[in-house]
Amino acid sequence: MSDAKTDPKKLFIRTYGCQMNVYDSERMAEALGADGYVETDTPENADMILLNTCHIREKAAEKVYSELGRMKALKVDNPDLKIGVAGCVAQAEGEEIMRRQPAVDLVVGPQTYHRLPEMMEQVDQGKKALDTDFPEESKFEHLPTRHGVRAGAQKARRNPAAFLTVQEGCDKFCAFCVVPYTRGAEVSRPVERILREANDLVDRGVREITLLGQNVNAYHGAGPDGDYSLARLIWALNDVDGLERIRFTTSHPNDMDDALIAAHGECEKLMPYLHLPVQSGSDKILKRMNRSHTAESYLRLIERIRAARPDILISGDFIVGFPEEDDQDFEDTMSLIREVKYGQAFSFKYSTRPGTPAAERALVDDAVADERLQRLQALITEQQRAVQDSMLGRDVNVLFEKSGRFEGQMVGKSEYLHAVHVNADVKPGDLRRVRITESVRNSLKGDVLD
Ligand code: SAH
Ligand code: SF4
Ligand code: F3S
Repeated sequence: MSDAKTDPKKLFIRTYGCQMNVYDSERMAEALGADGYVETDTPENADMILLNTCHIREKAAEKVYSELGRMKALKVDNPDLKIGVAGCVAQAEGEEIMRRQPAVDLVVGPQTYHRLPEMMEQVDQGKKALDTDFPEESKFEHLPTRHGVRAGAQKARRNPAAFLTVQEGCDKFCAFCVVPYTRGAEVSRPVERILREANDLVDRGVREITLLGQNVNAYHGAGPDGDYSLARLIWALNDVDGLERIRFTTSHPNDMDDALIAAHGECEKLMPYLHLPVQSGSDKILKRMNRSHTAESYLRLIERIRAARPDILISGDFIVGFPEEDDQDFEDTMSLIREVKYGQAFSFKYSTRPGTPAAERALVDDAVADERLQRLQALITEQQRAVQDSMLGRDVNVLFEKSGRFEGQMVGKSEYLHAVHVNADVKPGDLRRVRITESVRNSLKGDVLD
């Protein structure tokens, strides 16, 4: 028994949703790490379970409640277990979560998780804790520095590829989307904080950084010598020794400025991959979505980006079955896809989100929406395959991240974000030239050159 007391407390985090939640989960683990928690891979032996949740579609939000039901059962064997809900469902539903699932001890929104240690004190005294403010102070200024955490109890687990949030929140208010409500208004972090965090990550073995923001290309942070755009920030990161690759996501078509387009042709460390969601190819639907760009302006933008960097891989997001989408609107989306030729794309059936402007509008027949989604996904899959197959025989640069499923196999990502498998003596963090020999279902195989 006495041993159990000196054991560090164990924290299990499950992450849903976008990359920003992945980043936030790391930072929450660090905040609680400074408080003596260490991470565990299984909920069964945890002292604290934290679900970092997503509210983007109905299914995502409902998953949380079924998961909470399962986690509650663990309290029978372990009455001291604490259960917390973080992220966008926490922000959107707040107290309602504790009403629906009384086993929940703590609810924390995406902008207040720097207050987790204080909240845990309350929870440890048997009280419930809830914080879904949009505080004046920025959580980033109050979180432990990543170096400080490394010196503490938290294990310095570092994949060679890392996320770094530079901008958060959204002022665009697309008619279908909950993000402006769950993440709040657009805020950019100051340049020096970002550079410091990037340097810390590099010191811990990181070689690729993906800059994150709900609208990352709207970034405009205060710098030592004036305001920085995203392009200027990327150029500053290009000078960080030991950092080999820079990516950023997610961008909005309206914020792709000339300097950012040019950077794709000129900045050595910026990778040739761009996630640029368009959502629909119909101007009528784009207007109703409040997207403030047209199909044509998007296509011209892609042309300019490809002129700057001809081999760039374009990725996108699509919503089908948005209210009032008719057959012609859908065909317009299909033609746009045919014209762009995506290397990667994510597509979703429209899901009504309470509180958003589109929530009041009449839905497209469900069977029709399902059929459209299937057709669109078949086209996207065909394009993805074609782009992936076009890598055959080419030499790409691969940043190796981990061992593959088979003995002796290592897997990494090419500059185009394709997963590449090799059988060779390489370590995580190695960046090597690879000749592509095979294109299989969802990845490439190749031989390390030299
Ligand atoms: N911040 C990013 C991503 C937002 S969410 C951006 O602005 O692009 C990721 C994707 O989910 C969106 O691009 C959109 O395609 C999809 N999405 C958002 N709300 C949705 C809804 N209500 N129903 C279906 N898909 C949705
Ligand atoms: Fe949502 Fe639109 Fe903002 Fe993207 S730009 S986060 S889709 S409101
Ligand atoms: Fe989901 Fe929130 Fe990200 S709703 S997609 S976790 S910003």
